[in-house]
Amino acid sequence: NGTLVAAPGLAFPKAEDGTRKPFVIGVCGGTASGKTTVCDAIIQQLHDHRVALVNQDSFYHGLTEEQSEHVQDYNFDHPDAFDTDRLLECMGKLTSGQSVNIPIYDFKNHRRCSENFRKVNESDVIILEGILVFHDQRVRDLMYMKIFVDADADTRLARRVRRDTVERGRDVTSVLEQYVRFVKPAFDAFVLPSKKYADVIIPRGGDNLVAIDLIVQHINTKLGQHNLCKAYPNVFVVHTTFQI
Ligand code: ADP
Ligand code: C5P
Repeated sequence: NGTLVAAPGLAFPKAEDGTRKPFVIGVCGGTASGKTTVCDAIIQQLHDHRVALVNQDSFYHGLTEEQSEHVQDYNFDHPDAFDTDRLLECMGKLTSGQSVNIPIYDFKNHRRCSENFRKVNESDVIILEGILVFHDQRVRDLMYMKIFVDADADTRLARRVRRDTVERGRDVTSVLEQYVRFVKPAFDAFVLPSKKYADVIIPRGGDNLVAIDLIVQHINTKLGQHNLCKAYPNVFVVHTTFQI
């Protein structure tokens, strides 16, 4: 004798004890495609909810002294460059409603800061962003919605040169050498093939306000169902699928 409510998409994820789990969104895309820009825009529009941003970059393995001496030979774009077990551990805590200390990574000396962490509190929405967040199935399986941010390769390279020279302490020659030797081949080998896992592909990154708006509307619908289910446990939600 419950009420039927039609709603698009999949059921909001539930924990084993029946409580609602945070809504996990994965945001993937090539270097400087606009992942962070898109995440910031989504977070800004979800102002009524508790939203946490987790960057895959925070889980880079720190370089040893020896690796640091030959940093130009280190591939930061290969999946092995990340401490994925630590990422899974942190995401596990967050998705089970606990706060967590996320490492802080320094792009200038290629190490995690040993004393300082960023505390991330329990949230309604967790956004996990990074070049390889769709690569490992265990990480993908945490995600309720997967977004791939697309941008033209020349545009990405131009942005990367500017960002890495201005913010990450690099010179133009080293940025270009790293791009040709590691960044582009790894994009072709690992990032681009993972695009097939995306539910939504955003062309033109942060410039695409329509796509960002649609995504925010979808998340709000899901969070609204969440609150509805909490307030009216006898209301059943009927699900249909839709596509942007
Ligand atoms: P990612 O997180 O994918 O590496 P960011 O969002 O950090 O990408 O963007 C990379 C760089 O490009 C930043 O310096 C950012 O300010 C710039 N940028 C991102 N999107 C745009 C855009 N639409 N127009 C101009 N610059 C942009
Ligand atoms: O922000 P973005 O997605 O571009 O960050 C990922 C990029 O950071 C990778 O393409 C990698 O080459 C670069 N990186 C780097 N130096 C490090 C760690 C990552 O250039 N120490």
